[in-house]
Amino acid sequence: MRIAVAGGTGVVGRHIMNVARDRGHEAIPLTRSNGIDLVTGSGLPEWLDGVDSVIDVSNRSTLKTDESVAFFTAVTHNLLAAERKAGVHHHVALSIVGADAAPDGYYAGKLAQEGLVEAADVPWTIQRSTQFHEFAAMMFDQAKAGPVHLAPRARTQPIAAREVAEHMVAVAVAAPTGRAVDLAGPQEESLVEMVRAYARAKGHRGWIPAVSLPGSMGRAQRSGALLPHSDAHRGRQTFTEWLASLA
Ligand SMILES: NC(=O)c1ccc[n+]([C@@H]2O[C@H](COP(=O)([O-])OP(=O)(O)OC[C@H]3O[C@@H](n4cnc5c(N)ncnc54)[C@H](OP(=O)(O)O)[C@@H]3O)[C@@H](O)[C@H]2O)c1
Repeated sequence: MRIAVAGGTGVVGRHIMNVARDRGHEAIPLTRSNGIDLVTGSGLPEWLDGVDSVIDVSNRSTLKTDESVAFFTAVTHNLLAAERKAGVHHHVALSIVGADAAPDGYYAGKLAQEGLVEAADVPWTIQRSTQFHEFAAMMFDQAKAGPVHLAPRARTQPIAAREVAEHMVAVAVAAPTGRAVDLAGPQEESLVEMVRAYARAKGHRGWIPAVSLPGSMGRAQRSGALLPHSDAHRGRQTFTEWLASLA
């Protein structure tokens, strides 16, 4: 099968490219490094010739509502329009468990994306996942006040990006199902402890204070609204195992 991966160079996108190729599929990355700007749509149509499924794991990391909505709306609109013209059979979008509990900031973009996909005339699947184990690394790198790293308070049930990728490829080669059963990690973790453990594993010895993010996103993170329901598919690798695998 020919599978195009919007965001194929990202944290989960790289794994999707590898898993798809390991399983004998042709995988085409749709990213700026490949000459495609998904926000403007430039360069996109010629890469969709003969593509069966598109997996969208593109991303813009932002806490700003306007920026997030503008990015995910433009990318989803451009992808779906190009897919319709090219006769793509299946659009698969990756979203986030509990996104509707925090309908502003970054999550506003994810909800806008889901709405466009649901209204699309290209057959679709929306797969929601909890945070990746790799989210701890992203927080360590990005959540800072000057030189001090910060650890946002959040209840999460993280999953390895590699396992998300395995699941996304299986979804992309199967028939479209609309809203799929959520995907989550094996057990609940504290994001504060994840960030601190990641920092220690990287040799960081400084103090990492816990902080509460403002707004509905911060409240949803702390309340457990981003945790999966009991019927979610579970990954196997724990955060501790993932961290050990980095050594
Ligand atoms: N991180 C998590 O814990 C988590 C949990 C659940 C769901 N998700 C969802 O998973 C998806 C992927 O997240 P991620 O953390 O793996 O993403 P990421 O590492 O930030 O990667 C973003 C990807 O998007 C591409 N991209 C960005 N702007 C682009 C543009 N204008 N044109 C073309 N490509 C563009 C980047 O490629 P270039 O820079 O090369 O263009 C890169 O491949 C997101 O939709 C996110 O909401 C993430």
